[in-house]
Amino acid sequence: MNDYLPDDALKLRYVEQKTRETAQLYGYHEVITPLVESYELLAAKAGEEIRHRMYTFNDMANRKIALRAEFTPSIARLVATKMRTMPKPLKLFCAGSLYRYDEPQYGRSREFWQANYELMGTSHPEADAEIITLTSHLLDSIGLHKHYLKIGHVGILRGILNQEGIQETQQNQIMQLLDKKQWDQALTTAQNLKASRLCLKTLKTLIETKGNDTTNILHEIDEAIKNYETAGTAAQNLHEIIELIKNSNIKSEILIEAGFARGLEYYTGMIFEAYVPELERAGLAIGGGGRYDKLIELFGGEPTPAVGVAPGIDRIALAIDKTKTPLKLPDKKHVIVIPLNEEMLAQAYTIASTLRQAGIPTDIELMRRPVSKALSDADRRGLQYSVLIGPEEAKEGKVTLRDMKNREQKTIEKEKLITEIMREK
Ligand code: HAM
Repeated sequence: MNDYLPDDALKLRYVEQKTRETAQLYGYHEVITPLVESYELLAAKAGEEIRHRMYTFNDMANRKIALRAEFTPSIARLVATKMRTMPKPLKLFCAGSLYRYDEPQYGRSREFWQANYELMGTSHPEADAEIITLTSHLLDSIGLHKHYLKIGHVGILRGILNQEGIQETQQNQIMQLLDKKQWDQALTTAQNLKASRLCLKTLKTLIETKGNDTTNILHEIDEAIKNYETAGTAAQNLHEIIELIKNSNIKSEILIEAGFARGLEYYTGMIFEAYVPELERAGLAIGGGGRYDKLIELFGGEPTPAVGVAPGIDRIALAIDKTKTPLKLPDKKHVIVIPLNEEMLAQAYTIASTLRQAGIPTDIELMRRPVSKALSDADRRGLQYSVLIGPEEAKEGKVTLRDMKNREQKTIEKEKLITEIMREK
């Protein structure tokens, strides 16, 4: 788990702020759920990978609980219970820290941060397209223009395995292996589960079917699954989603991978992950999501189709570093008020308060250093202005305003200070 020192914390909150702005832009409302949930809730359909990596413990009433490892089950719980009767579609956003006992390594920690967008109540492809578009838009707004989205469809793979009579739990084993890119083992497992030769051939073809020429790839998928009806319906759904994305002006490169699976077991349809090349080499996605139409029902709610995405906030912050993308922070004018001697302290206090009340971020020299030392410290900290309060000027109701960048200073009436600072570029 990490400590975030000021520069890192600034970056983390900057990314979080961007995810919040995107939520507003697309009409997602924030919900806040607890850090702990019942283990059963979090474990259901989480998939082996995450299930084994949850921080679990018994509370004083001997209930087995866990630190949240993702947001999706908590949101599904809300929609199955307290938000059951709310009009659909429901568009919900949340952000916060999550806990997984992952092997700590570059870009992977045991406490990390996600933003999370869930769109509940529609199974139409425009909902999937909205989630993908929103992800692309978010990354673009942060300046990560060279990202790409890897898209697949669990419905195609599960459609084939269903038709072969392979049980869901056994399908999950195959999906986990595909997720880890252990393709040969995935095929061997399917073979051991008595999948037909046609099935193995089809799976092998799908694993090899990937690329950014989406029209061709979709055509190749159709060809490969000719004999599997429900897989065909899933492929048609993927066509429709891709078609809508193409019409949404997003700049992401789109890569379709027919043999792509994700570790979480609740997915039923389109799945996707976002990457920047600089982190993709280390196998680190900056976000992931997909459609899950059965989870809310599993938690006792009405059958509610849903689709969502979780951008990794600290992964995106890492991507900003790796790609040397500048933060687009608002221009700030930060001032320090420096009394030239102890008698000027009271006046310095009044002026600092007046500036803060006017919304100008203001420090006051707190170390009683000589003015030259206080000024060089202001320089080191990159402050824009210092206001020097000396006895001579004070007698005339004046102060000295120093522009730290061009080292120019002027003596002005106290009353004009705020206007002057606001006016200066
Ligand atoms: P996930 O793929 O497990 O999906 O996580 C989403 C993102 O969280 C990853 O792409 C990555 O950026 C970040 N992440 C995951 N583990 C770590 C870690 N150990 N350290 C740093 N970052 C990490 C989900 O969590 C699903 N709930 C997404 C979803 C929402 N599906 C539908 N709705």
